[in-house]
Amino acid sequence: MPSQLSPHVSDIAPGRGALRPARSWLHSDAPSRSLNGSWRFRLSPTASVTEDFAADGFVDDGWDSIPVPSHWVLEGDGAYGRPIYTNIQFPFPIDPPHVPDENPTGDYRRRFDVPADWSDAERVVLRFDGVESLFRVWVNGVEIGSASGSRLAHEFDVTSAVRTGDNVIAVRVHQWSAASYVEDQDQWWLPGIFRDVTLIARPAGGIEDVWLRTGFDHARGRGSVEAEITADAAAFPVTLRIPELGVEHVWDTPADVAPLDVTGVEPWSAERPRLYDATVSTAAENIALRVGFRTVEIRGDRFLVNGSRVVFHGVNRHETHPERGRVFDEEHAREDLARMKRFNVNAIRTSHYPPHPRLLDLADELGFWVVLECDLETHGFDKVGWVGNPSDDPAWREAYLDRIRRTVERDKNHPSIVIWSLGNESGTGGNLAAMSAWVHARDTGRPVHYEGDYTGEYTDIYSRMYASVPETEQIGADGTRSALLNCTPAQSARQRTKPFLLCEYAHAMGNGPGAFDQYEALVRQYPRLHGGFVWEWRDHGILATAPDGTPYYAYGGDFGEVVHDGNFVMDGMLLSNDVPTPSLHEYKAVVQPVEFVFDGGKVAVTNLRHSADTSDLLFRWRVEHDGLSVASGDLEIPVVAAGESQWASLPPIAVAPDAETWLTIDAVLAAPTPWAPEGHVIATAQLDCSTRRPVPAVRLQADWRPGDGTLSLGVAEFAGGSLIRLAGRPVTGPRLELFRAPTDNDESPADRIEDSDNSIDGVSSADLWRRDGLDRLTTRRVSVEHTADALRTLDKVSAADSALSVMVESVWSLEDGELELRVEIEPSRGWQTVWPRIGVRFELPDGAAPVDGAQWFGLGPLETYPDSLRAARTGLFSATVHDLSVDYARPQETGHRSELRRLALTSGSTEVLRIEALPDTRGRRPGFTLSRHTPQQIARAGHPFELGDSSTSHLIVDAAQHGLGSRTCGPDVWPEFALRPESRTIRLRISAG
Ligand code: GAL
Repeated sequence: MPSQLSPHVSDIAPGRGALRPARSWLHSDAPSRSLNGSWRFRLSPTASVTEDFAADGFVDDGWDSIPVPSHWVLEGDGAYGRPIYTNIQFPFPIDPPHVPDENPTGDYRRRFDVPADWSDAERVVLRFDGVESLFRVWVNGVEIGSASGSRLAHEFDVTSAVRTGDNVIAVRVHQWSAASYVEDQDQWWLPGIFRDVTLIARPAGGIEDVWLRTGFDHARGRGSVEAEITADAAAFPVTLRIPELGVEHVWDTPADVAPLDVTGVEPWSAERPRLYDATVSTAAENIALRVGFRTVEIRGDRFLVNGSRVVFHGVNRHETHPERGRVFDEEHAREDLARMKRFNVNAIRTSHYPPHPRLLDLADELGFWVVLECDLETHGFDKVGWVGNPSDDPAWREAYLDRIRRTVERDKNHPSIVIWSLGNESGTGGNLAAMSAWVHARDTGRPVHYEGDYTGEYTDIYSRMYASVPETEQIGADGTRSALLNCTPAQSARQRTKPFLLCEYAHAMGNGPGAFDQYEALVRQYPRLHGGFVWEWRDHGILATAPDGTPYYAYGGDFGEVVHDGNFVMDGMLLSNDVPTPSLHEYKAVVQPVEFVFDGGKVAVTNLRHSADTSDLLFRWRVEHDGLSVASGDLEIPVVAAGESQWASLPPIAVAPDAETWLTIDAVLAAPTPWAPEGHVIATAQLDCSTRRPVPAVRLQADWRPGDGTLSLGVAEFAGGSLIRLAGRPVTGPRLELFRAPTDNDESPADRIEDSDNSIDGVSSADLWRRDGLDRLTTRRVSVEHTADALRTLDKVSAADSALSVMVESVWSLEDGELELRVEIEPSRGWQTVWPRIGVRFELPDGAAPVDGAQWFGLGPLETYPDSLRAARTGLFSATVHDLSVDYARPQETGHRSELRRLALTSGSTEVLRIEALPDTRGRRPGFTLSRHTPQQIARAGHPFELGDSSTSHLIVDAAQHGLGSRTCGPDVWPEFALRPESRTIRLRISAG
């Protein structure tokens, strides 16, 4: 069936036959039919199968069925191939614009009905909201057209092809096409018709498109509407109604359409997303819109909405779901956005393509500043030095322009969208500049962003990804003469005239990142810095089943891909199963919009919001003695305007003589919102009101004598100098533990100038730790001594083929009738690297009543590390062993709780052992980890299911832990939080529960 429309998979053109110009995604009362549902489906391994299936009379009885929308690789239990994950790599030869003959091709067919009353329609339009990557469409055997641009909408005029009654539609989808070269985003490759297919009747006298450009003049407090109506002259008059504002305005002819001033308007902002229902109508059609009034403006190096500087506390959001892939699920998306709001996220970058159009309705409604990004990335050309990069090849110009037009036109009505982004990591070149010029001409109301425009030739915002803290500071600081990355001095000067944002920062892969607070401090200090977007919101795991039937979240390589990028696709603050990681809690605390500063008996409350005051908040206080609440109440704080502060008196605080006294203040929602219930905590602060209590001095024994080490001391029993039981329960240890199961950041090669002084370029910290044998330490007992009520052992700990060592002196004694363990850890000279931890490990094998939980007084409730402490508060917490660890997609260090005072190991609800942690001479307290697995076991597992069951509990008490950093994509652990080998003391008082 040869056809002149027949596209070739290597065709650079964005398809043929789709309607232009692209239109908004409108809510119209014109009739339409969803063609979502069950379609007939056949998958072929190549693109060259015959096209006879498109014929009306073709018999598809033998075909399978597949749901639309879906990705075929996620259907049929592997019968239709498997997902492929690559970050930058192309999963096919770099041979642009060609793709291999092995090109999975899905043929789809279904029948549909056109109602008789559609015969009045002027046109019938077929709309595809997303098909990956190139498709052709036939209706009743007539070829209609083709299109690429996977995450973009395409409409076709099918008026002459459809008939009243029964019709057949056939669609051929190729997984690979020339378009794949410009859709090389870091995500799964997921072919198929994955968004809605809709048949639309366009009435005569209808409205083709409408754009209500709304503005808000904050000085005069007035709104404005500038309407762009695309309709035949015969369709007029057109009426705009905004009932709540009393607007009913009729334009009799196209020439009449002029801007309107609207009074009594409340502005739209991400904080107070005030929307007004509007309709735009002709006699034949009504379009419903929800308008928000806001004005976006760049003034000097400030990015302003309604006259106020915006700080983006944003996340990069991919469309990803463990079972559906990029298929949109409104309920799930709404909950995801509500969760963002609950965690103080106020902005979304739609990395790296337009999301399902409905997502933007949700963003308008719930309130987010949105950077809407075009579907464009050519990152794989990096490998060949950007030779042949489509971004600078005139042959690709039209394809680039087609993409940006479809992006802007579809979503132009949304108040939440405040910036257009041309795409991601596509090098630079004339086609990007042309896209930008097109946007500037089309929409003067929103600036253009593209990170790859380093020198700022054609974009309005200075944007970088993963700039280090010092570099970010250098960008923020005024008057610095030094050149910015990839810029000449003149270009640097130009960039410094613009607002700056970090379109990606703080790579949240695995356990991490550290240092959110350092970036936030800079944003507070330098107004040119407008915050940024964490990489990224959620893990992209795909639900799979292990050979033993255990469900797990798969990442790159789990589907046998030829090339892949492993777990680099698991870098979200949310796990694949929607569970927030501690990093999201940390983020929430760092960006909390209310700041508390204590001073004497007063607290200053500062409102850091964009424009909303604090009238939606209540302030609650409570006083705790060693974590137990003894008093609470409400704090009277006058309403604080955005950017302002108010002082308030603190309540009277009863300070305990023999317990720590802490005051906690929470700012909570006074009333429910669409995203959180009443009482939801927005911001928290704590004040330590404790009286200082002396730490018992170390009692040095003088009468040590050699012994066989078999004795009992308090609740401890020893044999041969080694602990065998505590409180009658088998326990071994303490054993020096310097290893942690490397985090993804620990496993990342050092490649940045700012990495810690001890790093080796190209080598990860974890490699250095393994090189030095930290994961395989051995012990030689040097001596065992005792007195009447104390036992001392000296161990030399070192690894095979290493002369480096650590001396560990353990002294067990009875102090005030209680068992005390003091461990002195002293490294030899010559250790070169940072250490992951300095701790001691105890093993508690399963007994009659296995340890299955902990209650502690210290920092909690979640894990903390030196550069990620802000979400923690001092309090009394409890958790099961299982809940003390986070199920990172690739098992790694997890569960460390810092600044421990007291710990009870529990079995059921019974305390079996109590441990009090004494501060060292510098006042530093240890942290603890309680886990079913040792760091060495965790380090060997690729997925949680590989860890297997264990009923042994491993307690590690750490004098110190190394920070987390962000080295998987960004800076290493900041020097202040890097752990260098050093002497440390751990002191514990142990008693029976
Ligand atoms: C960026 C890129 C993102 C993602 C991230 C690393 O360079 O824009 O798409 O790949 O790195 O996870």
